[in-house]
Parts: sequence; structure tokens; C-alpha cells
Amino acid sequence: MRVLGIETSCDETGVAVLDDGTILANLIASQVDLHERFGGVVPELASRAHVEALMPVLDAALEDAGAGFGSLDGIAVTVGPGLVGALLVGIAAAKSIALATGAPLVGVNHLEGHILANVIEHGPDLAPAVCLVVSGGHTMLVHMPQALRYELLGQTLDDAAGEAFDKVARFLGLGFPGGPALDRLAQQGDPHAIAFPRAMADSGDFDFSLSGLKTAVLRHVKAERDAGREVDPADLAASFQEAIVDVQVAKTVEAARDRRVETILLGGGVVANTRLRERMEKAGAEAGFRVLFPALDLCTDNGAMIAVAGSWRLGRGERTPLDVGADPSMGLA
Ligand code: KG4
Ligand code: ZN
Repeated sequence: MRVLGIETSCDETGVAVLDDGTILANLIASQVDLHERFGGVVPELASRAHVEALMPVLDAALEDAGAGFGSLDGIAVTVGPGLVGALLVGIAAAKSIALATGAPLVGVNHLEGHILANVIEHGPDLAPAVCLVVSGGHTMLVHMPQALRYELLGQTLDDAAGEAFDKVARFLGLGFPGGPALDRLAQQGDPHAIAFPRAMADSGDFDFSLSGLKTAVLRHVKAERDAGREVDPADLAASFQEAIVDVQVAKTVEAARDRRVETILLGGGVVANTRLRERMEKAGAEAGFRVLFPALDLCTDNGAMIAVAGSWRLGRGERTPLDVGADPSMGLA
């Protein structure tokens, strides 16, 4: 089955062609430069940029894949969660292609896409599993008892992990989005230099809270400066990152034990984080779990993950009507 995947939920225009699980093309037009000077994604600018980028990216992806519209067996598109205007650009394009080619349309949940990105690298036998989904907009622990079934175990009560990375990176002058730059800087620092709080580490549930950590970082820097001391940015980055990773790793392993699964899946942009991958692999190995995460370039938003999720749903006979709308706050479970 050959499936086109379209992703426009935030600031990446992603288009992929997937043939029986093999990626024939996976192209992304990033809007980072556009939003950088605002220090965050500006929704209206994002929608307009998707309108401009989508057709050229689509053409290039089909050319890359050596595929014509007529060869597509299905059109998968992100329908939520995300920015409503941005989502609508992808949805309108997907509907048009479905209508013109007669290929079925399938709406995909962006979060499911992040989880199923693992299929590309690790094959279809993932469930039962516990999944940690960490991105710019989400931080959640999900139980997947069988393929395409989800039970929400817990989530952040305030900021998402990627949001925390981006905010602290901005404070450190690392640009936007700051996650990757903070990751690089942290590799030169001591993760135990500063003891930042591990919020909700002992809360006895699977929820997270990240906004206090950002405040703790700001407070620490101010206190040190007031005392006439300079803070080493690499130590700060490493210690901040460690505080996030510590809680995420501990709660994920705990959730996997609680649900008696053997597999831990990671998905979302923050899974590109070097330390999170390292620590989760180590903790998983020690506790006897199989820990899986997508290849680096499939962690952040892309069309391939949408094509995979779409092909699974199409394979089960699912079809989405052509009058489907965007669902900006779509949940997984
Ligand atoms: O999944 P994603 O591409 O978009 C959303 O669905 O939100 O995730 C983007 C987030 C951003 O906050 C970005 O800073 C973060 O993932 N990120 C990272 C790294 N690479 C991307 N955070 C920490 N370390 C990284 N290496
Ligand atoms: Zn995402």
C-alpha cells in the first residue's frame, strides 16, 4: 500500500510517501527562520507559510519517490492536535488530492504519529507498551495495550517538556527552537552541578509539572549574579536537562512496571535529546525493558510518521469523510 502523509500541525511542512512501510520520500520545509525573531511560533505566520510551502514540497516528495498522484492508495493527514489554521492547510490539500484521485482519506492524530514513527525503525510489533510522548506541546505517558488503543496514564499539568527546553534556551540566548542547542551545550556541562527540583517525582501518579523548573533556573541565575558569581551556562543547561530527564525516566519505567508491559516507546521532538535517549536506554536495560525510539530525524515533526499511522488505520478499513475538520485540542485516548 502506497500512502501519502501530510503534516502541517505546527511549524514544519512535512510530506512523505510510504510504500508498504518503506519511506520513498520524506521532505520537510521548516519555518524556523520565520519564527525565530519572535522567539516562538506565530500561528498566523505559520498558516501562511504552510500555504506557500505545501505544493512545492508535495511536488518534490512525489518526484523523490518517483510516484504519481495516480499511484497513491491513501492520503493521510494530521487533523489534530495543533494550530487550527496550520492544520487546515494540510487538511484542505489532502481532501483535494483524495477527491481528485479517488484514493481514500484518513485523518491522523499527530500524537499517534509520534508513537508510530517507531514502526519505521522497529517494525509493527510494538504493543503492549507504555509510551512517553514528549514534544513542544505535549508531555504524556500513555498505555498502549494493543495496536491503535490508548489509555492516558498521566500528563503535564502545565508546560510541555519541549516548551521548558525552549524557554530556558531562550533565557540562555540559544535561539529558537532551543531544545537542540541546549542539548549540545549540556554535553559540555556537569549534570550534577546544580540541584534543581525534581517536581512531582514522588507524586505517586504519572503526571508531570515543568513550569516550576524554569522559574528555579531563573532564580538560581539571579541569586548567583546577586552574590557576584557567574553561572557556567553549560552546567546550567546540563543540570536543568538532568532534572527533566530524571523525572521522565523514573515515571516511564514505573508506568511500564505498573502496566506489566515489556516495551517502552518514546516519541516526539524531545526524544531527539541525547541525554534522554541515553538515560532511558540505560534505565530500561537495568529494569529489563525493551526501550525503542525513532531515528533522530523522525522524532521531530515529519510526514512519514503521519503516513505510517495513516496506513495502519487504512489497513483496518478506516476512512475519514471529506467534510472532516481540524481538531486543535484532539486527545489520544
Ligand atoms: O514534536 P515536535 O517536532 O513538535 C511538536 O509536536 O511540538 O517537537 C518540537 C520540540 C521543540 O520544543 C524542540 O525544542 C524540542 O522538541 N527538541 C528538543 C531536541 N530536539 C527538538 N528538545 C531537547 N533536546 C533536543 N535535542
Ligand atoms: Zn510533534
